[in-house]
Amino acid sequence: MDFDAVLRNRLAAREGAGLLRTLRQAVAPIDFTSNDYIGLARSPELFAAIGQKLEQITPPLNGATGSRLLSGNSGYTEQVEATLARIFSAGATLIFQSGYSANLSVLSSMPQRGDTILCDELVHASIKDGMRLSLAKHHNFRHNDLQDLEDRLQRATGNVFIVVESIYSMDGDTCPLEELVALAERYSAFIILDEAHSTGVVGPGGSGLAVALGVHDKIAVRIYTFGKAMGIHGACVAGTRSVVEYLVNFARPFIYTTALPPHSMAAIDCAFAYVQAHGARLQQALRDTIEYFVQQVQDLPHVSRNNGAIQTALYPGNEHVRQVARQWQAAGFDVRPILSPTVPAGAERMRICLHTFNTREEIDLLASCLRALPGMVP
Ligand SMILES: Cc1ncc(COP(=O)(O)O)c(C=O)c1O
Repeated sequence: MDFDAVLRNRLAAREGAGLLRTLRQAVAPIDFTSNDYIGLARSPELFAAIGQKLEQITPPLNGATGSRLLSGNSGYTEQVEATLARIFSAGATLIFQSGYSANLSVLSSMPQRGDTILCDELVHASIKDGMRLSLAKHHNFRHNDLQDLEDRLQRATGNVFIVVESIYSMDGDTCPLEELVALAERYSAFIILDEAHSTGVVGPGGSGLAVALGVHDKIAVRIYTFGKAMGIHGACVAGTRSVVEYLVNFARPFIYTTALPPHSMAAIDCAFAYVQAHGARLQQALRDTIEYFVQQVQDLPHVSRNNGAIQTALYPGNEHVRQVARQWQAAGFDVRPILSPTVPAGAERMRICLHTFNTREEIDLLASCLRALPGMVP
C-alpha cells in the first residue's frame, strides 16, 4: 500500500469539500488579522529589552536541557512564575509551552471519572481536546446562556466544572463572569477560565478579566496565554498552590516535555515588565481604536461592534466568505476568512482584529469595504 496515496486521498477529499488548509505568510500589508493587539510582537523596545535580559542570564544556556521535573527547572523560571503570581493575584502559577498545552493539561487531568464538565459551546479547540482526554462526562451549554447552563447544572453529577473564556476567540464577545461566579457558587461548581484574549489587554498590568472584576479568588483555575496581546509565546495556569502542585503531578503535557528555554523566560519576564510600565497607555490606545472602528460601522448590522479587539462580519458560506476575503486582501488588508467547521455552518465570517497600530485611514478603508459588501445580520 502506498502511504503517500492514502494521505493524498484524504487531502483530496478535504480539498473537494473546500476545506484544504495551507500555510501562508502575510497576505497583504495592513494587519487586521494578528493577535498582536497592542503591538508588542513588533515592539523594538521589547525586542531590545529581551536581548539585554538574555545577556544577563548566567551561565549562558541555550536550552532547558530537560523537563521541569528533571534538569529543566531553574531559579529564573521560578522567579518568573512568582512575578506572574503577583500580577495575577494568585497563590501560584505554572508556566506552560503554550495555551494549547495548558488547556490540555487542566482539562485532561483535573475532572475525573464520574465528574461533569459543562463548557460554553464556543470554547477553543484546546479545551475540547483536553475534555476528550478526560474520563469525565462533558456537555456544551449554549453560548453565554446562563439559563441553559443552570438547567444542566441541575442535572450534573460528581464534581462539576464550568469552562468558559473571558473573551471568545471567534466572536470577540465577553463572558458574563460575575453572573457565572454567582451561579457556580449556588451549585458548588468550579470555574475554569481561559483568559487567552484578555491577558495583557484587560485589567491592571494586563492581569485579565477576573482580576479586573475582583472575582479571581472565586475561579478555581485560570489560564493566561502570552502569544496574543503579550506579543511573545507560552502560557501559565494560575490558582492556589494546590492547583500548581496537582498539575506538576498529574498533567502529562507538563510532565513529559522539555521545559521552555531561558530565552522564553526572558521574553515572558520582559513582556510583563513592559506591560506593567506601559499597559495603561496601550490599553487606552486600543480602546480608542475600537471606539473609532465601532463609530465607523455603526450603521452596518452585519458587523459585531464588540467592545474588545476582535470584531466579526458575517458572510455565511465557505465560498462566499473566501470571496470576500480575496477582495479585501486585494484592497491591501491581511484578513482571513473563518470557515466552517471552525465556526458552525452558516456562521462563516470575516474576523477582524484591531490593533493600537491600525491608523484611522486603515479603519476608514476597511469600513468602506464592509459597507460595499453587506453580509448577514446575526
Ligand atoms: C481561547 C484560546 N485558548 C487557548 C489558545 C491557545 O493558545 P496558544 O496559541 O498559546 O497555544 C487560543 C489560541 O489559539 C485561544 O484562542
